Parts: sequence; structure tokens; C-alpha cells
Amino acid sequence: QRRNYHEKVLDHYSNPRNVGSMSKNDADVGTGLVGAPACGDVMKLQIRVDPDSNTISDVKFKTFGCGSAIASSSYLTELVRGMTLEQASRVKNTEIAKELCLPPVKLHCSMLAEDAIKSAINNYYTKNPKAKQTDLGMSQAQGMPRIEIEKVTATTDTG
Ligand code: FES
Repeated sequence: QRRNYHEKVLDHYSNPRNVGSMSKNDADVGTGLVGAPACGDVMKLQIRVDPDSNTISDVKFKTFGCGSAIASSSYLTELVRGMTLEQASRVKNTEIAKELCLPPVKLHCSMLAEDAIKSAINNYYTKNPKAKQTDLGMSQAQGMPRIEIEKVTATTDTG
């Protein structure tokens, strides 16, 4: 029985974006290499990080896997480019699966892409421990103003 794949999957599969690799020895490159136990498919994903802004300036991938895994990683590379490491680490496989309309049996293929970006970010953090501290500091700082605003509103309401 022939499965009808969504045109977005076919587009990313037949014309994958950002295929390739970077030198994993570069200090500003993080490399993720992950495998899917369910099928044995493997994905390598690399990010280049702008150390000043902690944002992803370039992404490359190679996937030795099925069409949905290739499409998932291709879409992911477009999604995370320009994101901060903190933002990219929160990308969920369900987001990818939804965008590409992956059928349930192909969910693990998008999981491979989520694992790959997490693994690449962790590799970058291992090489650049200061970047992780900056990211944690920023996400804490981002949470602060909201508490301040809530406090102000509460004061206004009761006053
Ligand atoms: Fe294994 Fe798609 S079938 S990654």
C-alpha cells in the first residue's frame, strides 16, 4: 500500500536544505551525532555559534536515514538558524512533525532531529562552558520583569 506523504516532506526530502558538514574542531562549532534505536538511522547535525550573541549563525546536517528523517533535519536547520542556543534547545519534535504532517509511525524520525540539535548544543556548551552560564543567566533575567509587572499590577488593583 502506497503512503501519501505531505508535499512539505517531499519538498524537504528531494531538495534538502543545508546538507554538509563543518570542521568539528572549530571552537565555535557544536556537533551532534545521534541514532534512532527503533530503526538504526543516524543523524549528524552541526551548528556554528556567534559567541557575542549566542545565536546560531550556520547549520549543516547529514542524515543516514529515511525520507522523514531527512525532511525533519532539513526543516530543523531552517528553523533554528538565527535562534539563541536557549531557544533552539526548546524546539520539540512535535513541532517538526506537525509542520511536515508526519504520520504517527514516523514520529521517531522527527525525534531524531530534536535529539540531534540538543546534542549539538550540549557539545558546544562542553567546548564553551561560559556560553552556558550566559544562557542560564539570560533566561533567569527574562523571567524577572514579568514578576515585577505582576507585582505592580497587584498593587494598582488593591490600591
Ligand atoms: Fe528511522 Fe525514520 S525510519 S528515522
